[in-house]
Parts: sequence; C-alpha cells; structure tokens
Amino acid sequence: DPAIASLGRRIGFASVPMPASATDTLTVPPGYTASVLYRWGDPVGVPGAMPAFAPDASNSAAEQALQAGMHHDGMHYFAIEGSSRRGLLALNHEYTDDGLLHPQGMAIWGPEQVAKSIAAHGVSIAEVERKAPGNGWQLARASRYARRITAATPCTIAGPAAGHPLLRTNADPGGTRVLGTLNNCAHGVTPWGTYLSCEENFVFYFEGPVRPDTHQRRWGLQAGGGFFRWHEHEKRFDARLEPNEFNRFGWVVEIDPFDPQSTPIKRTALGRAAHEGAATGQTDDGRVVVYMGEDARFEYIYKFVSRDAVRRGGFKANRELLNHGTLYVAKFEADGSGRWLPLVHGQGPLTAAHGFADQGEVLVKTRQASDLLGATKMDRAEWTAIDPINKEIYVTLTNNSQRGASGQPAVDAANPRAYNTMGHILRWREDGDLDATRFAWTHFVLAGDPANARPGARGNIRGDIFGSPDGLWVDPRGVLWIGTDVSPTALGKGDYARLPNNQMLACDPSTAAAEGGPDIRRFLVGPAGSEVTGSVMTPDLRTLFVNIQHPGESPSERADPANPSRISNWPDGGRPRSATVVITKDDGGVIGS
Ligand code: FEO
Ligand code: CA
Ligand code: CA
Ligand code: CA
Repeated sequence: DPAIASLGRRIGFASVPMPASATDTLTVPPGYTASVLYRWGDPVGVPGAMPAFAPDASNSAAEQALQAGMHHDGMHYFAIEGSSRRGLLALNHEYTDDGLLHPQGMAIWGPEQVAKSIAAHGVSIAEVERKAPGNGWQLARASRYARRITAATPCTIAGPAAGHPLLRTNADPGGTRVLGTLNNCAHGVTPWGTYLSCEENFVFYFEGPVRPDTHQRRWGLQAGGGFFRWHEHEKRFDARLEPNEFNRFGWVVEIDPFDPQSTPIKRTALGRAAHEGAATGQTDDGRVVVYMGEDARFEYIYKFVSRDAVRRGGFKANRELLNHGTLYVAKFEADGSGRWLPLVHGQGPLTAAHGFADQGEVLVKTRQASDLLGATKMDRAEWTAIDPINKEIYVTLTNNSQRGASGQPAVDAANPRAYNTMGHILRWREDGDLDATRFAWTHFVLAGDPANARPGARGNIRGDIFGSPDGLWVDPRGVLWIGTDVSPTALGKGDYARLPNNQMLACDPSTAAAEGGPDIRRFLVGPAGSEVTGSVMTPDLRTLFVNIQHPGESPSERADPANPSRISNWPDGGRPRSATVVITKDDGGVIGS
C-alpha cells in the first residue's frame, strides 16, 4: 500500500490532553471514533447457542461458556483471505472478578460458581466483519469459527516435557492431556497463522501445602494461596491432593483459530513461566524465534529458536515446529552487551547432580535452571515486540517496588532504579541474525513523571507521561504502541499522583536517539479502574482493536458487587464489563497517521 509506505513511522494525531480529573469514559484523539464491539457476556456466536447477557450476572456456567469471558487481554486479528473487512479475533480472557461474575458475588460459593469462573477464563475466537463504512464493525453471529476455549477445555501437552513424570496426575496418568488453559495474558502469532496464548499467574489457582517443597516454594505455591477458590470444588486445583496439576500450567498454548474442532496444544519446548508475551520473528533461513517475558518480580526473559525452518502449508505443515528447538535465558551485562544462555540438559550445571533428570525437568523447572545459569533477574517483564523494519526487540518491565529492598536483589545495569514504581522499556539488537547468542541492549525509555519529587520516579520521557508500561506492539509501519497497567488502587497517589487513568500511547521509535528521548504521544485514555491492552490492527492499518480490561477494578469489592462505591459503570451504565473496542479514523485514514 503506497499510502502506508509514504507514511513511514510518522505519527500525526493530536495527543489526548491530560484529563482534568479521572473520568469513567474512553477518550481518543479528535478525528477518531471508538465503539464497543465485544463485552464480557456477549455471545461469541456459536450457531444455535447464543445466550444473551444477563445484566444481573445470572447467566449460568453453561451460558458463560458460550459468551465472552472476563478480563480481555492479548489479542490478534486473523484476516480471512487477507481481508481488512472480515477476520477472526482471537483474544485472551485472563482472569475473573468473581465479585462481579455472580449475582451474589462470592457470598454463595459452590460448584456452579466455580464452573462459571472456569468458563469465564480462557480464549475467544470471534468472527468480526465491517458491515458499513466508518466504524461499522460487528461480530458475525452465527459463525462457523466462533469458539470459547475455557479453563476446562481439553488441551494436549506436546514437546520435550510431554508425558514427563512431573506432569502425570491421577486423571491423566500419561501426562499428555490437561483440562483447560488459564490466566491467559499476552500472546503471539506464528508465521503459519496460529495464535499463541500465554499462561501467566497460574499459581493463584492452586491451594498449596503448609510445608511446600523446594520446587513448590520456588514457584510460589503455598497454603492459603488458592485465591480463586476453585480448589474447594475442583480437587485438581488442590495441590495437596494432586501435586503435579500445577506443573501442567504456565505454558505457551498454540491454538489454530480457523479450526474450531482443534485441540489447543501446550508447547513445553518454550519453557514454563508466568508467561507474558510470545513475540515471534524468523531467522534469515526461516526458523521461528519467540521472545517471552516472565511477569514476576526478579524473574527472567526467554528466547526460543526452532530447530527447523517454517514450511509452506499453514498449521498442518508446521504442527511439530514448536516441539523442537533451543530455549535461552537472557543475561544483561553492565557494558550494554548481553548473552543468551542455553537451557539445555547436560550443559553447564543443568545435570542430574543439580536436580535435572532430563530436558523435560529443565523445562518444568525453568526458573531453577535460570537461577543456576546466573541469568538477569528483571523488573517484571511483560510484553515483547519486534520492530518489523529493523528487527530490534523491545520488552516492557512494568515495575518492581521490591528492587533494592532489604534482602532483595540490588539495582543492576538493566534494572537501574531502586523501588522502581514506574517501570521501563528495554530495547536490544541481536548480534547478527535473530538466533544470535549475543546482543546489544539499551534503555529505550525510563517511565515516570518529571514533576515527581523523587528522582527515581521522574524518568526521561520526552512527551506524554505514563507509568507501568505493559502492552507493547510495533505495527507494520514501525509505530510503537504502549499500553499501561498502573494498579488502579495506586493511581492518583504518590508517584502516580498526576497520571491519568491507564492509557495507550504511540511513539515513533526512530526519534529516540537524535532528539534526546523518544517522542511519545497519548492516543487513548481508558475508563476508571481499567487497564488498556491487546492492541492490533487490520492489515490495511485502518482499524484498531484494543482491549479494555477490568473497568472498575477494586479488589476490596470482590465479595460485594452491590457496593455502591464501585468506580465504573463502563461501557453501558451497569455492571462494568471488560470489552474489545474498535477504533477508526473518521477520514478513513491509517490509525495514528
Ligand atoms: Fe497479566 Fe503481567 O499481565
Ligand atoms: Ca500484562
Ligand atoms: Ca501488568
Ligand atoms: Ca490487568
């Protein structure tokens, strides 16, 4: 498209001004229109099975399994035959606010409530089409592609850890089949057209023993840790009864969006982590490379390089591709160089003497293996993104209030701020092709607010201020889009006093070096208590889809949905609902131009 090519990375919209006060609306720049497309509880469009949303949250678990789940996160638009007017949205439903999900909140808690919570997790595959010019997008109902994957949908476990003794349970003695995927956060897309969904904070679904063993402790499993209370009615989530079930979560899950009968596949070769993001690229000879952050304090950044080159023929021709390859963990050196350390059984300390019987055990115990290799402990790595033009790689480090605290890791070159409330974005360039084992890194931006009294919270943004970068995407013309996730309970106070509601910003990253810092502009401000995430465009770059997650979030209200202090009624005046929003430019132009 010559119109897109002539734009280059240039951004042209007027920044959304800082709101005078926090409002419960979604704001975009002048000349743009945003409308709500797919809210929690909207039917996904399965033929003959489209229960309407009940505003009092009285839909049953069975109905919820046919409707949008809660807490939309990572998302991709899969064009149908290349179309920018018709495609499939694959999107994650990360977790639930059970105070909102049921008419009585959590005051009544039984098998039906647990089943509904399970059904509100997972992934949606929804067909969308542009019926009218302008902002005329809607869900296609019914659609032969429409599908909900939930935390109860049968999934296959594949790759080096499949069938491993650590993955065997009473219900699945073979260790290759698990029910469901959960806490699906950020995502990736393969070159052969499948969706990668990342299982993040899986540990909060499991009730642990009073005296956890070393492995359980390293992954945070503990007594009283079953925050979602599923274990009370679903025994597989009680790790005291079924200790290996929690090893079957924390994987990157591959889903073929075009085959509603297909079984999601957990790809163990990519390692187990509190996974966030799986940005993919390809080496010059066609192998796939996947960059993955782990969003937990003092955890790691990973890269997977496949053994084989991608073949023509879609998913069918590449269904084994993510089962074979090498997983690496990143080490950032003080001089701006970096190394990718292989997580390969038998190499270095990754031997039976150190507790790794085989490659399967290395992959299940990725954290322990990375500890032994001396990888760099990061400030909560969230999304990864690859610049399609120059192959530079970005990662958001959202924040880490424990950095430099007593008994915790000190600051280091890559994570330079103690009590890092604001977060930062790193950028690196591989030393050669994407499979290189060395790289050169720099800080792209330190987030913050120059008006803050505390120097460590000022940052170096030249442009609109933000904190806690999380969502990240470089669009095909090279514009970097940043979504933020400051905890809603922290907004308006302390270092965050002057920040607006969570927001999405755009940046021309080529401005960074020459101009003394990247020029970052505010494109969208979300409603009260929401996170802004999951941005993706149609191939013509004229439609942007974005996810508004957990409007009205306020955890103290979890058990009391009737609490009148709830801070959001977005988007339709009642119970707040996470939603996919569609944004177009009124003149029909490229988004951000
Ligand atoms: Fe689910 Fe780290 O965001
Ligand atoms: Ca995130
Ligand atoms: Ca976050
Ligand atoms: Ca969130």
